[in-house]
Order: sequence, then structure tokens, then C-alpha cells
Amino acid sequence: SILKFAVLMVFIASYSFADDYVLNRKRFPPNFLFGAATSAYQVEGAWNEDGKSVSTWDNTTHADPDSIADGSNGDVACDSYHKYKEDVAILKETGVNHYRFSLAWTRILPTGFPDQINQAGVTYYKNLLRELRANGIEPFVTIYHWDMPLTLQERNGLLNESFIDWFADYAAVCFDLFGDDVKIWTTFNEPKGTCLFVVPNNKTEGSLEYICAHNVLRAHAKAYRIYEKRFKATQDGRVGIVLDSYSFVPGSDSAENITATETTYQFELGWFANPVFNGDYPEIMKSRIGARSRAEGRKSSRLPEFTEAEKVALNGSADFFALNTYSTSLVVAIEDPPISYPPSRDQDMGVTNYQPDEWENSTMNGMKVAPWGIRPLLNWINDHYNQPDIIITENGTPDNTGTLQDVKRVSLIQSYLSYIRDTMEQDGVNVIGYTVWSIMDNFEWTQGYSQKFGLYNVDFSSPNRTRTPKLSAQYYKNVCQTRCLIV
Ligand code: NOJ
Repeated sequence: SILKFAVLMVFIASYSFADDYVLNRKRFPPNFLFGAATSAYQVEGAWNEDGKSVSTWDNTTHADPDSIADGSNGDVACDSYHKYKEDVAILKETGVNHYRFSLAWTRILPTGFPDQINQAGVTYYKNLLRELRANGIEPFVTIYHWDMPLTLQERNGLLNESFIDWFADYAAVCFDLFGDDVKIWTTFNEPKGTCLFVVPNNKTEGSLEYICAHNVLRAHAKAYRIYEKRFKATQDGRVGIVLDSYSFVPGSDSAENITATETTYQFELGWFANPVFNGDYPEIMKSRIGARSRAEGRKSSRLPEFTEAEKVALNGSADFFALNTYSTSLVVAIEDPPISYPPSRDQDMGVTNYQPDEWENSTMNGMKVAPWGIRPLLNWINDHYNQPDIIITENGTPDNTGTLQDVKRVSLIQSYLSYIRDTMEQDGVNVIGYTVWSIMDNFEWTQGYSQKFGLYNVDFSSPNRTRTPKLSAQYYKNVCQTRCLIV
């Protein structure tokens, strides 16, 4: 009977271990961070209040409303400038660990330069930070999320090499003013998007995007080193840069498609990540753009080169890997494109990628639903940049109604989180946080208010900009509370 008892105990133990194992697989570690995000222009409104100056987005939306899908602008947006307490209340209600938001350069330094600090703008962010702290929510602050002061754009913005100093000076002001309350900083949001979409890259010379990127990267490194030298010892925060990428997956397992996938990753993500984590542009970019530039009859490559000092400053200039990702794409090798004028980055890359028709659509182009892709993407980052801590700084999905019954958003978030958890547990990748874009519907750039990503619906027709939780807010609240994915 002792034997029987022992067998029974082993049976019970193994059963409950197995059960535990299954449960653990569904649970995120206790220190994993769940958050939600916004950016200044997309939510704040108050575009000309309290000394704020005009940004490129104020200017474009006013001067050329036709360039925005619904002719709208961010003049009022979610009115977060006045309703930040409500924002913090809904973040608190959702139970997030962190809130990712950005600072408006034009609110803090209206001339673009530190000659004049706008106290009212500073007070707004101090109030927001205080409110977040009082509610136990960790601020993740992006210093630049696309709203360039018009004064700087008039001086050629990101294409002016002086931008490096303008940005570094602005960043230093931010560290100085807010650094006691901010422990996670990111310099730029999605610089690739910034350089491809902000910079007209089809003008005569072509390759302006490489010049833009070169300035952004050096500005980032300069800000990172300023923090390291002047603020790190007293403020003890971490600084990174938010990079965006699709997951790229070979269209078939042919050697050509596998190579083409690696090339795509290097041009799409390595363009910024390799300088920041490994100190220089990817070899494949240097060799392909160099060769094509020579074939065009140029003396030097259209891809600028870093000086040795710049490489040193860039190398290791991020304390974590901040990633925005929304979808997956299949890569196929093509014949090397012929030399053409003007040159383009796509031709330099010399591969193509697509999303199969049969994949489920979202309401935005290029954002088909394929959450499984995040696992190979996270592994690619892990393998190429020395196993960094990775924070997903944006993930989500749009719809065009703002419906409260947003079942697709719930299933997308659940599915992404499930693949992320598998990648952590089964592949040992260090993902330390996840951030939903967005806590609430907001101004989606050229799509205006026609595309909505929020966990909360915002009623843009009411002067109150009433926030109402969607099903996804309920779901995410449960995730934050239980650290599990099943309701
Ligand atoms: C990228 C950007 O960082 C954010 O501003 C935008 O709204 C979302 N992704 C959704 O497109």
C-alpha cells in the first residue's frame, strides 16, 4: 500500500506540474511591463495655446487639408492638453504599468532653440508627469515624434546637418527639465518613417532619405552621450530609439529568398539599428549602394559614411531595443533593378515583398493581420544585436468605425502577446515590455480621424471628446491585472 500511495503521489505531482506548466506558459513574468502609447500631435490639441509655436503638422494640415484623408487636423485632437487627468484616469483604470507619450518641441522651445524656454509648456508636461507618478504609472517619453518646429523646417529640418545640434540641445533641455521623473527615454520615433515620408525622396538627386537618416542617427548619438555624461549619474534612466519594422519572412525557403529576407531586414531595420547597436551601417547597404553609386558615375556612395568618432559615439547608443511592429510581409528575390534616375532606396535594396491576398485585411494598407511574424522578427533582433532587452513600444490594429465591440483588436492583441510569450519562453529572447498603440483613438496623420487604433473610443464630434472603453480596453485590463492572456 505504501507503493500504491507513492504511485498516487507521483501521479498527482506530475499532473499538477503539468498543469502548472500549462498555466505558466500563459502567464507573463511579474516584472514584464504592459503599457499604452500616444504622441503629442496626435492627442494634445491646443495647437496655438500658451506660447506653443507652429509645427510642420500644424502647418501642413492648415495649408493643405486635402493631403489629409478627411481634411482634418490636430488643432483639438483628443484635447489631451486640457484633459490629461482624464487620460491618466483611463490609463489607471486599464491598469497599465507604463504610458508612452511624446513631448512637443514647439511647446517647450517655441523658437526651436533653447534661447527661450516656454514655461507654460514645461508646466503641462510636469503636471502630466506628476499625475502619472501619483497613479503609479511609469512614463516612457519620446523626445521627437514627427512634429518638427516650423522654424527648423524652414532651415531645411532633418536635411540640415545643424539638426544634430538643434536636436541635441533640445534633448538636453528635456533631460534637464524632466529627467528626475523620467527613467525611460527614447530620442526619435520611427526615424525610417520620418525620413521616407517626411523627406521628398523622389527629387532630382534622390537619396535624401540617406542624408536624413545620417543626421538623425548622429543627433541620436549626440543626445545619448549627453545623457550619459551629464545626467546618467544623477538621474539613472535609460535611453533608446524607437525603430519600426515589419516581420520579414522568406516567400519560400529557396536560398535566394532567404538572402533577400536578410537584405530586406538590413535595409529596413539594420539601416538604423546597426549603427546604434554595432557602430556602422550594415555591410550589405554599404556594398550595394556603393556599387550602384559607382555604376551611376558618382565618385562617392550615396550612402554617407560615419567618421571614426561618430562610429564610436553611435556604437552602443541604446540601453534597450525599442520596437514598433504592426504586420508581416513575405520577401522574394528579384533581378537586380537596372540603374535608373532618380535612384531609390527600393532599387538599392533590390528585393521585393508582399502580403498575400488571402491574409486577413485590416482597414489600412500594408497592415494585414499576421501576428505569428513577431516571433521570427524578435529572434532576428536577438541574433543581430547581441540579445538586447526588447520593449515593444507600439503594436495594435486600426478600424474605421471606432466600434466599442472591437473583437478584431482583442484577438490581434491576444495573438501578438501569445507569440511574444512563446518567443520569450521557447527562444529565450529578452522581451521586457509591450505597449499598445493606442490608449485612445487619435489623429492618424494623413488618415486623419478615419483610422482608429484606440482601446478607448473618443467622440470627436463632442466638445468634451468623451472617452469610452471598448471591449479591447476590458480585455487589456484583464491582461494587465492577471498577466495572463485568457479571459
Ligand atoms: C506609427 C507611429 O509611431 C504612430 O504615430 C502611428 O499612429 C502608428 N504607428 C499607427 O500607424
